Amino acid sequence: MVTATRVLRREHQSIRGALGLAEHISVRIERGEQSPPGVLAKVMDFFLLFVDRCHHSKEEDVFFPLLESRGVPTSGGPIGVMLMEHDRARGLIQEMSEAAEAYEADGEAAGKRWARSAWDYSGLMQEHFGKEEDVLFRIADNLLSPEEHGAVVARFERIETEKLGPGRHEELEAMMKELIAKNGAH
Ligand SMILES: [Fe+2]
Repeated sequence: MVTATRVLRREHQSIRGALGLAEHISVRIERGEQSPPGVLAKVMDFFLLFVDRCHHSKEEDVFFPLLESRGVPTSGGPIGVMLMEHDRARGLIQEMSEAAEAYEADGEAAGKRWARSAWDYSGLMQEHFGKEEDVLFRIADNLLSPEEHGAVVARFERIETEKLGPGRHEELEAMMKELIAKNGAH
């Protein structure tokens, strides 16, 4: 059976691939190499849409509130920490988006700014996913019934359509796979 935590873990795996690519591009930019045209914009689309608009909405609008209603504390507890990290991630995405736009126009300094923010973002998200998987998802799997998991998964699917439009979730995932294959990251 497809559980809510299995859906979220699967998305974490896709996002880890994108973070690996972002780190790979950061290292190349820091070395003075150019990122091929359009690549940063595509990476930003993935982080903005797939990660922030969709994945984080699934957690913030559905998954965390359900856990809260079942007694998992928000402020001062694991959910509060996760929410703070989502906010910090949004700030870094904003910095990266601005730098990515400037990079297409005026190159090097903006590239270095992008590389530093992307590096911080990747570190933050990798740690964040570790905490969610090791702490929160385990709590959820102990608390939620199969019916509750099923209801959450159905709401996740609605969020994909509402936040991104039909089919866009899969398109973004496929786009990222192709980008990783073409740009030499694993
Ligand atoms: Fe999260």
